[in-house]
Amino acid sequence: MKLFGKRRDILPDKEKFPRHIAIIMDGNGRWASKRGMPRKLGHSAGAERFREISEYCGEIGVEALSVFAFSTENWNRPADEVEGILNLLRKYLDESCEKLAAKNARLRFLGRLDALPEDIREKIARIDAISAKQTGIIVNVCINYGGRADIVDAVKRYAADCAAGKADPAALDEAAFSPYLYTGDLPDPDLLIRTGGEMRISNFLLWQSAYAELYFTDTLWPEFKPAELDKAIAWFASRKRRFGRAEEVKPAK
Ligand code: IPE
Ligand code: IPE
Ligand code: MG
Repeated sequence: MKLFGKRRDILPDKEKFPRHIAIIMDGNGRWASKRGMPRKLGHSAGAERFREISEYCGEIGVEALSVFAFSTENWNRPADEVEGILNLLRKYLDESCEKLAAKNARLRFLGRLDALPEDIREKIARIDAISAKQTGIIVNVCINYGGRADIVDAVKRYAADCAAGKADPAALDEAAFSPYLYTGDLPDPDLLIRTGGEMRISNFLLWQSAYAELYFTDTLWPEFKPAELDKAIAWFASRKRRFGRAEEVKPAK
């Protein structure tokens, strides 16, 4: 709190806060290229920013944060860039194992994790065990994540439940389907932020973002400091959300 006390002035009252913030952390490569550095260094700078922003979200009382760290399409990048990103993930997982218990955050990894190298899956399993005992902010790190893959995998799990007699297709509706997604019972993101200037979703949280407020900024991810997040949250608080109705739907107090 001490660190960020001043910036909190522009933050809205708690009832206007987004409960769940999603971020497409884009612009690492361009940030590095602008400085004449290899793209890999942009990813290291981006990882630092993620640490700072996730900690800040915990301090200001955001309930859930979901970040896009690596997409199902990002495997199509040069092998050394992909390996660099996986190594940063290894480092982050090792550090988190040491520090997580003290922070009380619930760290989760969402995506097609089976396709990740075995050592990474083992590290994730260790973190899952620690996170299961925590009660603070939920931080979803989306790796080998695709919104379409999320839906397809949910359909497969649902079909398996139908075959096992645990679900009834005649009773399927949106509320019954949502828990099969990687995000499970989490509320949908209220605010979806994309850094790096592009105005597209790039296959992130397709189902879950149906009514998210979309915030696009030219700021490249490694430069997205907590003060920038404050701006996005203040902008969110000024939106009138209607969810298809004629009048604004105010958040429940
Ligand atoms: C986002 O930054 C990180 C990942 C996709 C892994 P980029 O690497 O896409 O950065 P730009 O968009 O090329 O600048
Ligand atoms: C989206 O960024 C994926 C992540 C931020 C992890 P990309 O850089 O991969 O998206 P496109 O290629 O510009 O759509
Ligand atoms: Mg990009």
